[in-house]
Amino acid sequence: MEISNAKQVINIDAALTARIDELLSHYPADKRKSALLPILHEVQDAHDNWLSIELQDKVAEIIGIKPIEVYEVVSFYTMYNQKPIGKYMFEFCRTSCCAIRGSEDLMEYTCNKLGVKEGETTADGLFTVVGVECLGACGYAPMLQLGDHYKEHLTKDKVDALIDDCRAGKVELHKLTITE
Ligand code: FES
Repeated sequence: MEISNAKQVINIDAALTARIDELLSHYPADKRKSALLPILHEVQDAHDNWLSIELQDKVAEIIGIKPIEVYEVVSFYTMYNQKPIGKYMFEFCRTSCCAIRGSEDLMEYTCNKLGVKEGETTADGLFTVVGVECLGACGYAPMLQLGDHYKEHLTKDKVDALIDDCRAGKVELHKLTITE
């Protein structure tokens, strides 16, 4: 996912600061960088699920590390987004088990249904579709991740129902569930 020049309002409020401090408290003062991944998750969740360069710089400042140390982590992991994304991001696993069981076809079906290419966001800002590497649920292929949900044994009908549920506001992104 490419870097975005879009502007992002940075808001490290008291609640987020407290959560960051709590995460940092798990590590010695000279190992604060060890808290980088969970801090990035917290900060991203609080900022519409993406991390601008300015926000990554802020994270570096808070932790006391160089900005490049944040950039290299954010650009490596697909769970961190470097540009604005849709409210609902469908992350299709495209690694071997899921690919053999049709994940590429399902992703193409989803893209066509939503009128986007892979990596794009729908004009209404609701949906982004991306392909990602193995999400560790190979025995339940094909699958996708949506927020904290794993959607497994996917079919076109299940994708249709999921899109409908998203449009109806029935999907809670940050409540961990595994649904077959
Ligand atoms: Fe898809 Fe592992 S190959 S979850």
